[in-house]
Amino acid sequence: MTETTDAAALLLSRIRDVEDHPEPGVMFKDITPLLADPKAFAVLSDALAVIAGATGATKIVGLEARGFILGAPVAVQAGLGFIPVRKAGKLPGATLSQAYDLEYGSAEIEVHAEDLTTTDRVLVIDDVLATGGTAEASVRLIRRAGAEVVGLAVLMELGFLGGRARVESALAGAPLEALLRL
Ligand code: PRP
Ligand code: MG
Repeated sequence: MTETTDAAALLLSRIRDVEDHPEPGVMFKDITPLLADPKAFAVLSDALAVIAGATGATKIVGLEARGFILGAPVAVQAGLGFIPVRKAGKLPGATLSQAYDLEYGSAEIEVHAEDLTTTDRVLVIDDVLATGGTAEASVRLIRRAGAEVVGLAVLMELGFLGGRARVESALAGAPLEALLRL
């Protein structure tokens, strides 16, 4: 999807810039107006479902929290299972964990070990690609669970933060699809 299409223009129009959130100097990209607009949300889900079909994915992985909201309807629409990758300590069963660095400190994400197998082809879905740390960690986690990562799809990519190079290196040839490049 290029930003000149009507669909991209609709999506872009429903993303709200919030200055100085969550801290001074940060421009937060708020997707709640998009989620509240059923037409825009449907356009978003349709576009991501097309990507799911093109990649031949067998499972959708959504990244907590906003990746859950975007990924779940795509899984239903595409007829695929939805697997949550959660922040550490939330999943009740046996998990695999992946730590990654933040600007200050570190974070950890987890997946249920039994949710992915060597026959799975996974499309990862999230709302924003910023530094790429979250997405890169998810790719590593899914591979360690034995599955193949066939792509990463995000609503928007914040190009100035350089996440694409980081994630493309981890994706090793699988596509990184951003509906909007900001
Ligand atoms: C945000 C966003 C992405 C991630 C992108 O998640 O939803 O998942 O940061 O940043 P990165 O590319 O630098 O890793 P966050 O955990 O802040 O919030 P959420 O729980 O609302 O999704
Ligand atoms: Mg997130």
